[in-house]
Amino acid sequence: MRIILSMIVLLFLIGCGEEKSTQTQVIQPTKKEEQTATIQIQKVASKVLTTQELFVKECSSCHGKNADKKALGKSQIIKGWDAQKILNALNGYINDSYGGDSKALMKSRVTKLSSEEITSLAEYISKL
Ligand code: HEC
Repeated sequence: MRIILSMIVLLFLIGCGEEKSTQTQVIQPTKKEEQTATIQIQKVASKVLTTQELFVKECSSCHGKNADKKALGKSQIIKGWDAQKILNALNGYINDSYGGDSKALMKSRVTKLSSEEITSLAEYISKL
């Protein structure tokens, strides 16, 4: 009987020990921290989404979703270009200092974008 009792006590102790060792410490963020984090995530998400959406809507039909196509079989493949090179080309279309035979096509599209949108697009494309 004694042995059985001490076995039960022993099992109980082992059980408790295990429970303790698997316990993880949960650090609860304060409400304020939670809110700030959520706002930051929303900001980042909406920025990425907007630029991505803009690219899909305005550019990908010709340049491809990954910017890896020759637009209308005419342009260079812009995937792999760095942001500054893309920016120079886009601004060049606006001020007529850049482009080939089909530059009018690009000019009409880029002139309706804000300079912020153009910069974001250049950065977005450079990361595709
Ligand atoms: C209707 C098809 C079409 C759409 C839509 C379009 N492009 Fe183009 N893109 C072209 C063509 C064609 C060229 C080559 C124009 C030329 O002769 O200079 C070009 C050239 C470019 C170049 C320079 C590459 C080169 O060949 O020198 C960049 C950068 C570029 N486009 C970015 C964009 C971005 C960003 C958008 C969206 C805002 C966009 N394009 C939308 C057709 C398109």
